[in-house]
Amino acid sequence: MDKKVFELETVVLDDANNAVVIIDQTLLPNEVKYLHLTEQADIWEAIYELRVRGAPAIGITAGYGVYLGVKGSQANDFAAFAAEFGAVKKYLASARPTAVNLFWALDKMEACLQANQDKSVAEIKEALRVQSEEIKAEDIRTNLAIGEYGLSLLQPDTGILTHCNAGTLATGKYGTATAPIYLGQERGYNFKVFADETRPLLQGARLTTFELAQAGVDVTLICDNMASTVMRNGWVQAVFVGCDRVAANGDTANKIGTSGVAILAHTYGIPFYVCAPTSTIDMNTATGWDIHIEQRNPEEVYKKWYTQPMAPETGVKFFNPAFDVSDARFITGIITEFGIARPPFTQSLKEIFKKKAEAGY
Ligand code: MRU
Repeated sequence: MDKKVFELETVVLDDANNAVVIIDQTLLPNEVKYLHLTEQADIWEAIYELRVRGAPAIGITAGYGVYLGVKGSQANDFAAFAAEFGAVKKYLASARPTAVNLFWALDKMEACLQANQDKSVAEIKEALRVQSEEIKAEDIRTNLAIGEYGLSLLQPDTGILTHCNAGTLATGKYGTATAPIYLGQERGYNFKVFADETRPLLQGARLTTFELAQAGVDVTLICDNMASTVMRNGWVQAVFVGCDRVAANGDTANKIGTSGVAILAHTYGIPFYVCAPTSTIDMNTATGWDIHIEQRNPEEVYKKWYTQPMAPETGVKFFNPAFDVSDARFITGIITEFGIARPPFTQSLKEIFKKKAEAGY
């Protein structure tokens, strides 16, 4: 496999220069430009504007961000240091509301802070650095495990449809929904992937086709409204998508348009799999109705990618939710790093977390 795609670093900590380094994903596929973010406001803006995006990558960025946010602290006792930490954490947590990895990573950093409170401030800072690097390392291990479980469900020459980008650009590396595809590519599975363009921000067109083509995967770009046609034509045998938050009952928030794909797959009898690191499963959220769905600037719908507005700017209302919820009843399986949860998810997700605890996490 052409591994160029894995040379891309979605998020890196440049500790020597106090920077989080990201690829500016708003410029892809036309330009690969790395940004060195040193100010908290720039890290926040990069998450908000989707320069770095995808639930796991947002979590990794937040982990590095909160570490850098307190690295320069002059506090010399725990209480003062913890107060500064709390302010940085609160600020970064406000960047985007739906992807639970943002809060998960920040909570992990806070747990590390609390576990080291008897140490000197310098030692706590070092513990936070190590924890932030571990969040990324854990994500990469997780994605490879999801890849193996996902691949175990697939036959060679399968047609796979995916929505948005749950790829290497959305994670530490390998992606979640793309991990089985990359592993299959390495092992000669010859998958045929259909990438939904994913309006309005075109993560499928700009990011998923970019990565898969770089890895030599057979990928076809379709508009979102073509998914039904490729399914009806018999070209798709499985759907693999990522997620931003899975509720305890299996309802899954992912990029807007995913729920329509889930319903289509159900209608055509095509298995619909959600690839979910346990960091994206929120057992404290009972159902999809409890998930806060991010509403974004309406200009993304009719203006952002066009030289001229594609709708009258007056007399028209706009609605731009960034995510939707796929009902658990349309989901065939939730693929985690600790195995594949099957319906009823209320039970099987608990078992996944039991396995995670048994593994010492
Ligand atoms: O708005 P985005 O681009 O951050 O949305 C990303 C998605 O919906 C992904 O599918 C999800 O975060 C999973 S990434 C492994």
